Amino acid sequence: MIADTDPNVIIVALDFSTEQSCCVLLEQLDPSRCRVKIGKELFTSVGPNIVRRAIYSGFDVFLDLKFHDIPNTVAAACRAAADLGVWMVNVHASGGRQMMEAAREELAHFSSRPLLVAVTALTSLDDNAIRELGFADDANALVKRLAKLSYDCGVDGVVCSPNEIRMIKDSCSAQFLAVTPGVRPKGSDLDDQRRVATPGEALAAGADFLVIGRPISRAADCAAALSAIYNELVADHSRESR
Ligand code: C5P
Repeated sequence: MIADTDPNVIIVALDFSTEQSCCVLLEQLDPSRCRVKIGKELFTSVGPNIVRRAIYSGFDVFLDLKFHDIPNTVAAACRAAADLGVWMVNVHASGGRQMMEAAREELAHFSSRPLLVAVTALTSLDDNAIRELGFADDANALVKRLAKLSYDCGVDGVVCSPNEIRMIKDSCSAQFLAVTPGVRPKGSDLDDQRRVATPGEALAAGADFLVIGRPISRAADCAAALSAIYNELVADHSRESR
């Protein structure tokens, strides 16, 4: 765990379709209190300027475009992300060893490179869907296999659900980063998330970064929602260390 009460463990998902709604949220957030994630919807609707704008406002940006293509194309996309100045970028581990190694080698040319993390098996895939894709593994075995492959390829970590963190850290390394969505503060709406953990539970399981979207972005007071989550983390941590 990087720092269990560091507010920067929280990455706020900027899941919006317009620059304006995204900027309304950015203006309410303090870059010393969180990082931000820009995914496919916002990037495709608005383009790379929103990334530049968030960075210019002082935020570390996780560019969540989950690259998956031939090695040359993914390496070039990672270079473009690094040129934008993002803090973290991701690829699909199922793109394979050569693809992940090409991405890692391309980013190694940057003096201050983005962290590179891999998506193992999408949490939306259950055992049946994974079998239908032709894999003999069940979801857990596939996640473990792809996490180990990512680790062997020199990737910095994986995006995983809170309940996969222990298995991944045990089979790879405690230092292998775990970036965890599916996090819901106590008493908050689950939305469409199912296998959720509270922020404190996710950190206790070894998460390095917590991706949290709607509990912050859809709150009436986004800054207050972020502060409440951070305060919950600090309280859980001090209870645990007593
Ligand atoms: O609003 P909520 O907190 O559910 O947002 C979670 C964010 O993490 C969304 O941007 C979603 O796309 C992303 N994510 C996820 N589950 C994964 C991978 C990414 O929820 N397995």
